[in-house]
Amino acid sequence: MSFAALWESLLPLGRDAGTGGYRRFSWTAADAECRRWFLDNAAKRQLRAGADRNGNLWAWWDIPGTGPGGAVVTGSHLDSVPDGGAFDGPLGVVTGFAAIDLLRERGAAPVRPLAVAAFCEEEGGRFGVACLGSRLLAGAIESAAARALTDRDGTTLAAAMAAAGHDPAALGPDPGLLASAAVYVELHIEQGRALADLGAVIGVAERIWPHGRWRLTFTGRPDHAGTTRLGDRRDPLLAAAATILAAREAAARHGALATVGKLTVDPGAVNAISSSVTAWLDARAPDDARLRAVVDDVLAQARAAAVAQDVTLEHAEESVTQAVDFDAALRDRMVATLAGAGIRAPVLPTGAGHDAGVLAAQVPAGMLFVRNPTGVSHSPAEYAAPEDCLTGVTALAAVLEDLACR
Ligand code: GLV
Ligand code: MN
Ligand code: MN
Repeated sequence: MSFAALWESLLPLGRDAGTGGYRRFSWTAADAECRRWFLDNAAKRQLRAGADRNGNLWAWWDIPGTGPGGAVVTGSHLDSVPDGGAFDGPLGVVTGFAAIDLLRERGAAPVRPLAVAAFCEEEGGRFGVACLGSRLLAGAIESAAARALTDRDGTTLAAAMAAAGHDPAALGPDPGLLASAAVYVELHIEQGRALADLGAVIGVAERIWPHGRWRLTFTGRPDHAGTTRLGDRRDPLLAAAATILAAREAAARHGALATVGKLTVDPGAVNAISSSVTAWLDARAPDDARLRAVVDDVLAQARAAAVAQDVTLEHAEESVTQAVDFDAALRDRMVATLAGAGIRAPVLPTGAGHDAGVLAAQVPAGMLFVRNPTGVSHSPAEYAAPEDCLTGVTALAAVLEDLACR
C-alpha cells in the first residue's frame, strides 16, 4: 500500500466537519476508530499486534530465530489536541508502517525485531497529563494517580478505559516490554519553521526543552452584574486575566514561552460575576532554571492578583518534563545514515514534547522531523507537503534498516 493510500485512509477518522480539525481524544469513539485502523494495518502486514497494559498499541515484525529483546521501535501517537492538525502524531505512525513496506519491498533482512507503536494520550487532550501512555509504560507516573485523572466532564481515566473494554487495573510500568526495545526512533512533523529556513526536508532532534503544565483556580464570589458596585466585587476572572498577561510578560523577560490556552469560567453567565475560574499555564524554556524562574514569576503574580481582587488561588502542577538530551551516538549515527542516503539532516532542538522524550530516560531514543513550511502546528492549518512526507518515509526506512539489519 502506498504512503498516500495509507495516509488517506486515516484522514477522515476523528475530523470535525465544522473546523476541519481533529478531535481524537483517548478512549472515545474517534480513538476506537483510530485503534481499529492501526490493528487493521498491522494485520494487512502480518505484524503481530495488540495493546499493552496501558493501552498503547504495538505492531511487531518478529524475526524468526531472534529472541525477545533488541527490538528497533518506531511510531508516535494517534490522539490529537482539540481541533489539532492531521500530522502531529499520525505522520510518525503512518510513516512507520510505510517504512516497513519499503524495507520489505527492498528485501531488507532484519536481524532484530521491528515494531511500530502508537502511544495513548500523548497530547493530554482528554485527561490533562501529556505523554500519559509512555509515562505509564516507563513508570514515570503512579498508576493510581493516572486512574483517578478526570476529563472535563468528570469521567475518570479508569472509567473511560473500562467503557472502551480495557482493564484499568492493569495500568502501570512494564519493564519487560521496555527492555525488549533496544532503541526508539520517532518521526514527527516539525512544529516550527527551522527546516524551511535551512532549506532542509528532514531534521534530527538534538534536545527537548523542559516544559510543563500548571492549573490555577481562582475562587471569588458570584454576584449580580447589574447591581454589584465595582468596589464590592470579588471577581476571579479579573485575577485570571492579570495572570494571563503576566505570563506573557514573564516569558519575554526570561527568554521562555508561556501560554494560557485553556480557561474555564463558572458558572458562565453573561449577567453574573463568575464564582471560579481555572486557567491552565503551559510553560517551556531552554533550561530547567529558566522554566522554574518563569513559573515562579507567574505564580507570584497570580498570588498578587488574587489578593488584589480579594479572591483565593489554588494551584497544582499537572505534568513536568525535564530537559531531554537525545542519545548523542544515535543522533550522530542517524545523521550519517541519512547523509549516506543523500539526505542532509540538520540537528535541531524543539520546544514540543514527545513520547520519545519520556522513553529517552530508559531506552536510547531519537527523533526525525519532517519540514513544516509554515511551522503552524496544533491547528487544522498544520501541513507537510506530500513529497516531504515521502522523503520522511525514505529517511525513516534508512534509519530503521541501519539499526535493524546490521
Ligand atoms: C505536544 O505536542 C506538546 O508539546 O504539547
Ligand atoms: Mn502535539
Ligand atoms: Mn506529537
